[in-house]
Amino acid sequence: MPYVTEMTITDIVLERWMAVPDPRLRQIMRSMIAHLHAFVREIEPTEEEWMTAIEWLTRTGKQSNDKRQEFILASDVVGVSMLVDCINHRLPGEVTPTTVTGPFHVHDSPELADGADIARGAPGEPCYITGSVRNLSGAPIAGATLDIWQADGEGLYDAQRGSDDPWMRGIFKSGDDGRFVVQTVLPVPYSIPMDGSVGEVMSRTGISPMRPSHIHFLIEAHGHRRLITHLFKRSCPYIETDVVYGVKAPLIAEFKLMPAGSTTPKGKIAERPCWLLEYDFVLQPVENASAAAPASAAA
Ligand SMILES: [Fe+2]
Repeated sequence: MPYVTEMTITDIVLERWMAVPDPRLRQIMRSMIAHLHAFVREIEPTEEEWMTAIEWLTRTGKQSNDKRQEFILASDVVGVSMLVDCINHRLPGEVTPTTVTGPFHVHDSPELADGADIARGAPGEPCYITGSVRNLSGAPIAGATLDIWQADGEGLYDAQRGSDDPWMRGIFKSGDDGRFVVQTVLPVPYSIPMDGSVGEVMSRTGISPMRPSHIHFLIEAHGHRRLITHLFKRSCPYIETDVVYGVKAPLIAEFKLMPAGSTTPKGKIAERPCWLLEYDFVLQPVENASAAAPASAAA
């Protein structure tokens, strides 16, 4: 074995890591080492800069727990979470695309009747979501489960309110015609948390920390692949600068403002102006699925 020099160290390390028995672990570790060495050779950090990086990673770990995941946020703002999503969900163009789950999904949301109001007095402008769940042939899927969650009209999620009652979330089922109706409030843009180590970096970048207005959906139906996605409000000023890069073109939807006196999807007359979002979700049959479950999460 040659002695270590700046020229030889990368090859020496890669040779040593050839010994890993698990081929996938060997591949991952050797690739990471190769890229990391190339990165260090390119930027030539000072020892102080390298220690700054180590301290930043340490702070990021200390800020991560079962309520907050600063490492996922770090992965999100450099686009890695969405790259992993894209690699794992190479779906045909007709299927509704996936996007990141985000940190605010709650597993025990209440099962609600079609048309139920998930806002229940939450601040915000009234909004209805309606549409259908369909298969690749366009046929309706009855009994699909739609787990829906979003921030309220002040940009805060259930977990951020700290309430014991479910807030701005619920589970619905599509009817025999594949259709569903949800009453809610209009989502508004919000900033990712800026009080942690990711915020420290972002505040030095000039990059917007905002996520465009969106609603989260987790849709499941027998014989079909689970769909985790968002719908984004087309007119949101942050639609092209999502800090976590979650916006895929087919997920941009029109939220229409309906005047007072309009008929709502629940068949009632709106007493004041309200928003309407209509969207048809198309699910991928399981037999055509080519990849694993979703990988990561963002704000
Ligand atoms: Fe969100």
